[in-house]
Amino acid sequence: MKKIVVFIMCFITFALAACGSAVNDDSKYLVLVNKTHQLPANWEAKITLVVDKDPWGDDVIIEEETLEQFKKLQEALLKEGVDIRLDSVYRSVDDQINLWNYFKEQYGEDYCKQYVAVPGYSEHHTGLAVDVCMMIDGEPDNDNDHMIANRDLFAKVHALMPEYGFILRYHEDKEDVTGYSYEPWHLRYVGSPSVAKEITEKGLTLEEYLGETD
Ligand code: DAL
Ligand code: ZN
Repeated sequence: MKKIVVFIMCFITFALAACGSAVNDDSKYLVLVNKTHQLPANWEAKITLVVDKDPWGDDVIIEEETLEQFKKLQEALLKEGVDIRLDSVYRSVDDQINLWNYFKEQYGEDYCKQYVAVPGYSEHHTGLAVDVCMMIDGEPDNDNDHMIANRDLFAKVHALMPEYGFILRYHEDKEDVTGYSYEPWHLRYVGSPSVAKEITEKGLTLEEYLGETD
């Protein structure tokens, strides 16, 4: 009898641990989507998307923990005099097709290849990639050239963001690894400050951290 009770208790403990790890499965936050890694099938079933607003009053869709952490980052940055807002976060494959067409028309195909992912291969499909814009004199500015030129502002953003679980995704000197030019505005939530700090302190791209440099 005693053996049966011990067995049942062990079984219950094991089952609870298994449930707990399923609920707290954070591996999704390290998903890799890039020029050679397509968005995993059924991705939307693994995440919870919520809605927020951009500074123009339009809806922005974002993964829920990413939003929670982004709000904390925003608050911390405001104390340093830096005001950043959500610009573009989750994008469906159709959204990415429209974006690709818009950028191709405006700037040409070469620019597109440097800055815009092929639909199905954009990290924005994950809901974990955040394009920010900056508020300058109370007005939102999401012009890529203006943001690249605003080194002081983005130095502050990049210094603080690992504390909240975000990394810089497209580094200035790692275009050969990521396949994209420097994008100071594109932050990526990786699920925990400790992982974000490790990646940042070692100066790695997500590809290098995951050993997926192809
Ligand atoms: N700007 C990034 C690369 C994207 O379009 O996903
Ligand atoms: Zn982006």
